[in-house]
Amino acid sequence: MDSGEENPFLDDVLEGLAKPQKAIPSRWLYDAKGSSLFDDITNLPEYYPTRTELKILRTQAGAMAKAIGPGAVIVEYGAGSLVKVRILLDALDAPAAFVPVDISASHLQSAASELKEDYSDLVVEPVVSDFMASNLGHALPDLSGRKCGFFPGSTVGNLQDADIQTFLKTARTDLGDRACFIIGLDQPKSPDILVPAYDDAQGVTAAFNLNLLTRINRELDGDFDLDAFEHEARWNSVQSRIEMHLKSLKDQRVIVAGKPFDFTEGETIHTENSRKISLDSFATMAEDAGWSLTRSWTDEQELFAVMMLEAA
Ligand code: AVI
Repeated sequence: MDSGEENPFLDDVLEGLAKPQKAIPSRWLYDAKGSSLFDDITNLPEYYPTRTELKILRTQAGAMAKAIGPGAVIVEYGAGSLVKVRILLDALDAPAAFVPVDISASHLQSAASELKEDYSDLVVEPVVSDFMASNLGHALPDLSGRKCGFFPGSTVGNLQDADIQTFLKTARTDLGDRACFIIGLDQPKSPDILVPAYDDAQGVTAAFNLNLLTRINRELDGDFDLDAFEHEARWNSVQSRIEMHLKSLKDQRVIVAGKPFDFTEGETIHTENSRKISLDSFATMAEDAGWSLTRSWTDEQELFAVMMLEAA
């Protein structure tokens, strides 16, 4: 590590490990290994959100396309593999353009060029950016047509209230007065379903969470003993969220970037919140940010919802 250079990962880890409740922001879970483990999670039998959302998209894409209308410009936030948006694009009437936004330039370019091969008439304009960036609007291409945001996966549930507000307000400004926004939102439900979804029998989610310590060891000169921590998924009913933690199995001292951090047995590092927000609560948040929730689609068990917001 070069000292004197900006290193937001280092700053977040040193600051987070010094808190009374140790905590590291969940975005650092996604290095190359973490992203690939997350892909594995989406195929686990216990992890219902991905397959449920895909089913809703497949059965309701026609209704979504009708509500969006012809000639739309689709802007996907945190685009990833582009599997879900293909379902929407297939149903849309003559979409004018597709703008996938993703922080990983290499993933974005390869996914966008694969998509372009299958949709040769579609204008595809990838934008390399953090979807939370406040200056994203300047990077978006100037295209005519109704702009419709697309944010599947319930990633919105990994954000805090203030960040959801900022994100929705920024998107409202960037997408303009006729805008719409299709957002996937995992729904509140029994912890009997939720806890196994975040603590699966094969231990893939555990590996995903523990990989954060491997990343700290590698990138920040840490000495975490991976056998001395374990993954924990907790349902916090008051906050309506699943929390991921890494629990210390003994009293121990860990060094990161030359700084000592003491753990007592059972003490945890809080690594992720996955909020389960009801449609009513989300509608209120959306209204505060200049959107109206106009349509929603769900599965038979109401495990997951896909909402349509329109500029208010
Ligand atoms: C990316 N995000 C929507 C996932 C979720 O369900 O909150 C991240 C995840 N963490 C553990 N399993 C999945």
